[in-house]
Amino acid sequence: MGFPVGSIVWALEVCIGVAMAHSSWVQQPAINVLREIEKFLQANPSEIITIFIEDYVKSSNGLTKVFDAAGLRKYMFPVSRMPKNGGDWPTITDMVKQNQRLIVFTSKKSKEASEGIAYEWSYIVENQYGNEGQVAGSCPSRSESSPMNTTSRSLVLQNYFSTNPNVTGACIDNSAPIISMTNTCQIAAGNRWPNYIAVDFYQRSDGGGAPEAVDEANGHLTCGCLNIAYCGPVNGTCNTPVLSPPPPAQVSPSGSDRSSMGFSIHKAVKLHAFMGTFLFTWILVWL
Ligand SMILES: *[C@@H]1O[C@H](CO)[C@@H](O)[C@H](O)[C@H]1NC(C)=O
Ligand SMILES: *[C@@H]1O[C@H](CO)[C@@H](O)[C@H](O)[C@H]1NC(C)=O
Ligand SMILES: *[C@@H]1O[C@H](CO)[C@@H](O)[C@H](O)[C@H]1NC(C)=O
Repeated sequence: MGFPVGSIVWALEVCIGVAMAHSSWVQQPAINVLREIEKFLQANPSEIITIFIEDYVKSSNGLTKVFDAAGLRKYMFPVSRMPKNGGDWPTITDMVKQNQRLIVFTSKKSKEASEGIAYEWSYIVENQYGNEGQVAGSCPSRSESSPMNTTSRSLVLQNYFSTNPNVTGACIDNSAPIISMTNTCQIAAGNRWPNYIAVDFYQRSDGGGAPEAVDEANGHLTCGCLNIAYCGPVNGTCNTPVLSPPPPAQVSPSGSDRSSMGFSIHKAVKLHAFMGTFLFTWILVWL
C-alpha cells in the first residue's frame, strides 16, 4: 500500500454557486458559476479547483464553449497529462507553476474524445452516495464507478451527500460517523485514503466534523500521521499528542448554509512541504 508521497491538502472552503440537484440549491446559468470560479482562480494563484459535471449538455462542443466564454480554458489541466491506469498525478507545485489549476470531469464518456474533458469514471472511484449510502461498516461503490479497490483509478471520492436535504441528519452524519466511514472506505478502496470528501451541510457537526475527516485523511496521505496537524519536521515522524483530542478543524464562518460541499484532498506526488487548498464543486449543466 503506502501513502502517496507528497503533500497536500487540506481543505476547503467551499464553493460557489452551483446549479441544482436539489430544489433548495440556487439554480443559475452555468456561465455565472464558471465566471465565479474564474475570478477565484485569478485571485488565488496557488489554489486548485476540481469540477465534477453531471453532464446534460447536448449541443456540439457545448462545454468547450461555456468554459471558453468564462475564460477558464487557460486554467484547465489537460486530459493528456492525467494519469491513466492509476499512475501518479503531478504535484500541486507543478500544477500551480504551469497554471493548470482547474481539473474538470464530465459524466459523459464521449466528451473525453470529442472535447478533451476527462471522463470521471476513468480516473475516480466513488462510493454509494445518498440516503442509502452511509451505512456503518460498508462502503460499496456507486453504480457508475468501478469497485472501490480498483487501483487503475487513481483518485478516491468519498461521497456522503444525502439524497434529500436534511440539516439535522447531516449534523449527525457529519460528526463521528463521517470519521468512521473514512476508515471503512479507506479499507474498501484498497488502503487508499480519499482525495475528496463530499458531504452536505459541511459546517454542521457536533465537533470536528468533515474538516476533521479531511485533516485525518491528509495526515495519512501527507506524512503517515493520524492528522495533518501531527506531521513532524521529518517525514514519518509524528507529534501526536498523548491524551488530547485532535485540534478542532477550521471551518469557514462564511459560506452558504447548504453548500454543495466539500472538502477535498488531492494526492500530490513527490512533493513535500507544500500545502494547498483544494476546492471542488459539482455542477449540473444543461445547455
Ligand atoms: C476488490 O474487492 C472485491 C470485493 O468488492 C474483492 O472480491 C476483490 O478481491 C478485491 N480485489 C482486490 C485486488 O483486492
Ligand atoms: C432527518 O434526519 C433525522 C435524523 O437522522 C431523521 O430523524 C429525520 O427523519 C430526517 N428527516 C427527513 C425529512 O428525512
Ligand atoms: C513520507 O512518509 C509516508 C508515510 O510513511 C511515505 O509513504 C512516503 O513515501 C514518505 N515520503 C518520502 C518522500 O519519504
